[in-house]
Amino acid sequence: MRVIAVWTIKGGVGKTAAAVNLAYLSATEGLRTLLWDLDPQGAASFYFRVRAKVKGGGGKLLRRSADLRPLVRGTDVENLDLLPADFSYRRLDLELDARKDPEERLALKLAPLADEYDAVFLDCAPSVSLVSESVLRAADVLLVPVIPTTLSLRGLEQVRAFAAKAGRQSLVVLPFFSMVDRRKTMHRDAVELYGADAQFLRTAIPMASVVERMGVRRAPVVAYAPSSEAARGFCGLWAELNARLAGGG
Ligand SMILES: Nc1ncnc2c1ncn2[C@@H]1O[C@H](COP(=O)(O)OP(=O)(O)OP(=O)(O)O)[C@@H](O)[C@H]1O
Ligand SMILES: [Mg+2]
Repeated sequence: MRVIAVWTIKGGVGKTAAAVNLAYLSATEGLRTLLWDLDPQGAASFYFRVRAKVKGGGGKLLRRSADLRPLVRGTDVENLDLLPADFSYRRLDLELDARKDPEERLALKLAPLADEYDAVFLDCAPSVSLVSESVLRAADVLLVPVIPTTLSLRGLEQVRAFAAKAGRQSLVVLPFFSMVDRRKTMHRDAVELYGADAQFLRTAIPMASVVERMGVRRAPVVAYAPSSEAARGFCGLWAELNARLAGGG
């Protein structure tokens, strides 16, 4: 089981869009895939038409004895399950803080699922918190969407520093450019400049209204507009991610 977290400090940069599309691609490739919507906004749950509700809320789910399996929902996509968001996740930090080894808790909760899933995607809320720390401990790979702007790039440096501090030397941190508007000089320049950064994935996701339509279609863009530039971007990202993990990137 490989755990892929999509997280950064900044909000609205395409985390959920990436998590939803990559989880879909993973499942359609035949990997048994779980998407855990950790954001109280519940956007990933919404896109897959799953009600953002967890019986007992986040507090109960984090208990050492609690089994995640009964909370997992199927989706319309074969091989793709979803662990929905819940509005109580807004207090997940406090719930974690009240427990022993809070940083290890998400890894502990996911461990029993190791034989059931090949890939687990974590769609995380923005900001830095005890939840993010626990996410970093649970993840094998951290995907970081970065809009080519100063603040988003600064967010990436903060994520890198935070990951280093969290003591996860083995964590593979893979930033990629998201919502790229090539008409903007600043975007073009930043993409070019970071072309020299070996960690950055080469694939950039373009800014495209077809992605925004996910909210109306309630499906990943790779499902309803597979030949769009954005969908091809997510396919490229998925291929590159796999190549990197196989050591060939
Ligand atoms: N490549 C894109 N082109 C155009 N719009 C996009 C793109 N990616 C995401 N969006 C839109 O931008 C908004 C934010 O995207 P998304 O929800 O994926 O970001 P996020 O980082 O998960 O946000 P949050 O921090 O709130 O969880 C959404 O309305 C989404 O439809
Ligand atoms: Mg999101």
